Amino acid sequence: MRIILLGPPGAGKGTHAGTISQLKNVPHVASGDLFRKHQQDQTELGVLAASFMSKGELVPDEVTISMVEQRLGEPDCGQGIILDGFPRTTEQAKALDIMLKEKDLRINHVIQLEVNEEEIVERLSGRFSCTDCGMGYHEKFSAPANKGICDKCKSTNFTRRSDDSPKTLRNRLSAYKEQTALILPYYSTKGCLKSIDGMAEMDIVFDEIKKMIDGD
Ligand code: AP5
Ligand code: MG
Repeated sequence: MRIILLGPPGAGKGTHAGTISQLKNVPHVASGDLFRKHQQDQTELGVLAASFMSKGELVPDEVTISMVEQRLGEPDCGQGIILDGFPRTTEQAKALDIMLKEKDLRINHVIQLEVNEEEIVERLSGRFSCTDCGMGYHEKFSAPANKGICDKCKSTNFTRRSDDSPKTLRNRLSAYKEQTALILPYYSTKGCLKSIDGMAEMDIVFDEIKKMIDGD
């Protein structure tokens, strides 16, 4: 099973990719997470990526494609993948097709989560995660059961993403509209694009995704 989750910042790509990954036992490959790991490890790529991410701009195709290609070449990606945040440009979409074709593989589903801007701002201004295990939360929609304590690992340390600030978020939204949305026709022409109302409650969105991928 090879799935791409597409959608603007805050659409729920990471939330649902994580759940599908557990359900179907295939890795969740998120280009944003890979870049953040490089930043944490202070690699050359991490420093380069940070200079774009801090402004809400896309990291150049060449480095993004090569980073994802390396990840997809790892053994755990052999049986399937849930891609989150990649591809984000037509160049990246074409490169992904070539990578898969070389192994006689293809994408089964491209699922677009549709969410309006007002909702995106509300979601990202309330988003935080556990510093220790990475579990994601939202102040209003999915707070920890016990305030200030991570449900998963009981840590009391939480962090917010620096690119969720209002100014950077505006640029991320523009990048989505001006660059990423252009790949929708690419997948639509191939006949594998499906859209879901990402404004619905999380469980409902997840059920919709599950219906689309069940049987795979
Ligand atoms: P990336 O990390 O991919 O960020 P993004 O696409 O901007 O998306 P987010 O992670 O903010 O949102 P999400 O859709 O995952 O939503 P989530 O599930 O967290 O990229 C960051 C940066 O890296 C980019 O700006 C760029 O610079 C660079 N980059 C990454 N990939 C690149 C690429 N391929 N090429 C070039 N540059 C790249 O949900 C958000 C919140 O909403 C959470 O709190 C969640 O609990 C809540 N929520 C989710 N669903 C619902 C719901 N149905 N109802 C209520 N709340 C909900
Ligand atoms: Mg995400």
